[in-house]
Amino acid sequence: SLFTAAALTPLFQARSAQAGTRPASAPLFTTALPVPPVLTPLSTAGGKDTYALTLRRARTEILPGISTEVLTYNGHFPGPTIKARSGRPVVVHHRNALEDHASVHLHGASVAPTDDGAPMDTFAPGTSRTYTYPNRQPHAPLWYHDHAHHHESEHVYRGLSGSYLLTDDTEQALPLPAGSYDIPIALRDARLDERGRLVYEMDDALGRTTLLANGKPYPYLQVAARKYRFRLLNSSNLRFFHLRLADGGPITQIGSDGGLLPAPATLDSLWLSPAERADIVIDFSRYPVGTRLVLENTLGPGSPEQVGQVLRFDIVRTAPDPSSVPAVLRTLPPLPTATVERSFELRMTDESGAPGAQGLVNGRVFDHDRIDTRIRHGASEIWTVTNPNTLVPHNFHLHLVQFRVLARNGQAPDPSESGLKDTVRLLPGETVRLQATFDTYRGTYVYHCHLLDHSAMGMMAQMRIS
Ligand code: C2O
Ligand code: CU
Repeated sequence: SLFTAAALTPLFQARSAQAGTRPASAPLFTTALPVPPVLTPLSTAGGKDTYALTLRRARTEILPGISTEVLTYNGHFPGPTIKARSGRPVVVHHRNALEDHASVHLHGASVAPTDDGAPMDTFAPGTSRTYTYPNRQPHAPLWYHDHAHHHESEHVYRGLSGSYLLTDDTEQALPLPAGSYDIPIALRDARLDERGRLVYEMDDALGRTTLLANGKPYPYLQVAARKYRFRLLNSSNLRFFHLRLADGGPITQIGSDGGLLPAPATLDSLWLSPAERADIVIDFSRYPVGTRLVLENTLGPGSPEQVGQVLRFDIVRTAPDPSSVPAVLRTLPPLPTATVERSFELRMTDESGAPGAQGLVNGRVFDHDRIDTRIRHGASEIWTVTNPNTLVPHNFHLHLVQFRVLARNGQAPDPSESGLKDTVRLLPGETVRLQATFDTYRGTYVYHCHLLDHSAMGMMAQMRIS
């Protein structure tokens, strides 16, 4: 089929050859996978958790022994993890100690327009901004990142992103792997020059050939021979991952962008386009202690000596395992009757990556003074989204709502897309039908391609719910 990873690989490689850049060498599997720190609240008074984050430059070691300047929340690359619980609000005070305007968006969250971190709703250098997250939604692996229009792609690339894990009673009642056996992993790419500096160029899909997991290139993780839960996030601006274990062994997907799937899905590979999340369980008990198991990206990073490798699991010990993956994980509410149908087309004006290319939604570049889609509050709508480009992949993200995927290229979606989603991939030529219900907040929100270089190039539009 046109849509397999194998069919897509030559497209990535053909574009890669044109780029002609050599990555700074990053050794394989010499650094342990770090886990970002969990942020401690300033206060838990008043029935809410209050946090403070400072946006600032910092230096970090990406390549061994080399210090790299990055943009951070509180000095961490990636940012610290915020843990939240449904029904309990979180307030975050952000201080902008950067030289640029910033905006902080909580991706996947249902929040009021003033707390959404909209592209034009920025706060200036030297100022502060407070966002309130009511957490009136079920558990979901959310993440926060910069969204200042025309700066978001460089800001996120240089480090402004972090996890926000929202849990609830439904999720907590399940016997899934927990504690130190539940690990968030943010995967992304980067272009590092020979001095270890992060190089940012707009739409540089092919120069960014070094893969990072939680900010380190090709790390290893020592694991016990038991089940682990990994919260995967693709925090890349442009890169698609199509992940598998080197031995082809099973990966159990239990959740996606909007939390747990109705039932676990056993996969031999899984897609992760920028901003998508996959909550997975890997059972290392099927491997003898001493096994080293590589997680691969079948699309390859474009670097000949490191094709396909992402990180390595080293099974180093045994451990008891009281966890299990139940056959039923959650019940999703039935879909309401949709009353409106719309179509959207995402397109780059020039697919060769030539400077001056623009990103279009239905033929138009983003204009913050224009409302593109007017939605009646309470309506449930079916949106058909198409990528007519032949080389460039896109994806589609709506703020405010978690939607359901009804069909991909006319077929029922795979189990991995059967849960709640806020971002959906669109490989060249693909069409996705999704259903979203706008029954929470009123106001203006954006929707866009989450290949952030594309949204910065204009592939973004606005909906007003009233
Ligand atoms: Cu992840 Cu408009 O954002
Ligand atoms: Cu795009």
